[in-house]
Amino acid sequence: MNREVIVACDFDSTSTLLSFLDQFETVKPFVKIGMEMFYAGGPQVVREVKERGHKIFLDLKLHDIPQTVRKTMRVLSNLDVDMTNVHCAGGISMMEAALEGLSRPDGSRPLLIGVTQLTSTSQETLENELLITAPMPEVVAAYAANAHSAGLDGVVCSPLEVQTVHQELGDNFLTVTPGIRFADSAADDQRRITTPDKAYELGSNMIVVGRPITQATDPVAAYNRCVKEFSR
Ligand code: C5P
Repeated sequence: MNREVIVACDFDSTSTLLSFLDQFETVKPFVKIGMEMFYAGGPQVVREVKERGHKIFLDLKLHDIPQTVRKTMRVLSNLDVDMTNVHCAGGISMMEAALEGLSRPDGSRPLLIGVTQLTSTSQETLENELLITAPMPEVVAAYAANAHSAGLDGVVCSPLEVQTVHQELGDNFLTVTPGIRFADSAADDQRRITTPDKAYELGSNMIVVGRPITQATDPVAAYNRCVKEFSR
């Protein structure tokens, strides 16, 4: 099974990101560029990080009408990223449109994954604010099944939901899991969390780790610890 540790580079300027990456001399981590970094640095920051030899997960979580998502993905497919995503809540036709827009003329495309429920969302929020009364694992499984039938490559979910997703949709359907914390680090705003080794045990394909690495006193050591714990 393919396993990757992706570093969520949630910074507000290109210079902060590049100085962060400068600390990694021997390894080139898989980098996640999310909304904060993309809105600050634009497509140029993506090109720059790619030129430095990193794989990129462009985490823009598109969620709009199918036509807008198709056209946006067409533009994004010109950026040489390795993976990008949409919200499954946009529905099957929106996810299909995303895939159409993403496919390049030569037939290649980045991996496309769907966000099921954010790892900061609790069962209480689901019920009281989003008015979704089904239990979280059921909601995630249903959203993942929609992503699978739309032809996506996998989903973003909590490590706690990985086993259900793989059982229902097969081991080749990727599970990308944020909400990762070391046993001795703070949960911050995340709710459905696990440690890297637990995520490995549960069968997570890729873990997305932000603050435990970016805010660490020694980010390279924290990254190496993460890779080690995620390979047991
Ligand atoms: O700092 P932390 O490890 O909490 O970062 C997690 C990253 O994963 C953030 O960039 C966040 O936007 C992203 N993410 C998430 N939960 C999801 C989807 C993405 O935390 N369901």
